[in-house]
Amino acid sequence: MHVFEQIAPLRASLREARAEGKSVGLVPTMGALHEGHLSLIRRARAENGVVVVSLFVNPTQFGPNEDFSRYPRAFERDRQLTEAEGVDALFAPSVEEMYPPGFQTFVDVPNLGSILEGAHRPGHFRGVATVVTKLLQIVQPARAYFGRKDYQQLCIIRRLVRDLDIPTEIVPCPTVREPDGLAMSSRNAYLSAEERREATVLYRALQLAQTRVREGARDPLALQREMETLISSEPHASIDYVALVDPDTLQPVADLAASPTLAALAVRIGKTRLIDNLLLTPS
Ligand code: PAJ
Repeated sequence: MHVFEQIAPLRASLREARAEGKSVGLVPTMGALHEGHLSLIRRARAENGVVVVSLFVNPTQFGPNEDFSRYPRAFERDRQLTEAEGVDALFAPSVEEMYPPGFQTFVDVPNLGSILEGAHRPGHFRGVATVVTKLLQIVQPARAYFGRKDYQQLCIIRRLVRDLDIPTEIVPCPTVREPDGLAMSSRNAYLSAEERREATVLYRALQLAQTRVREGARDPLALQREMETLISSEPHASIDYVALVDPDTLQPVADLAASPTLAALAVRIGKTRLIDNLLLTPS
């Protein structure tokens, strides 16, 4: 496996691979890799001649009071994990390589980017859309792999790829969970033992929603309240949002039985902000 810190040599190497007729698959990450990331990497490995994993804690997607400086960084472990998965190239640029002096162009997906997560993290998706666009331009992959765990991020990336005519297929991948249902996340490392137990309430609330929909529940507000009551029963939990939305537009649904509904939530457990979602399916 080659480790690239600079754009130019990565591009030269990928040009050669393409000339040999190999398809390129890209898995963008911020590192501190876990089984969720590895599932994307395995899928990319199975479907492409060359696999590139990017590892970049992107400063433009963190707000001023967010965890950019303390976000977990584990380069050596990530290098070993990606090597063991048969990754061809690890792209680990510096902030200066991605955002050199004078940088000023951003990609904005204003409507999808301002609701739910966007309403609570102003500028977050502008940073995500910009860095993902840059990564797609740098690597020019045939396919790029994203987790449903970050459902809104996936919607925004699909939108920008269509809007900007980027010739990459966006491949959505299922959410990988711990045995007790907690969605894997690099931020789970912040949780104390007690908070880790409480954190299962996100998945329990999503399962409650799934059960109610299967029982024929129709009123989204009543279900939202029931989910909020369950979450609030955990002493260190505070809710950012609990939303029942259309899975394409991310706008609130009026009737849970009328069409598929996505349950999406963001909850702070102590100081750690966690997100999760589930597509609710009738039985
Ligand atoms: P990061 O949080 O490191 O996630 C990288 C990719 O792994 C994303 O596509 C995310 O949805 C996926 N992922 C994370 N946890 C997962 C899980 N439990 N199951 C399945 N997939 C999971 O998302 C980002 O980084 C950044 O915003 C990025 C797209 C790299 C842009 O900076």
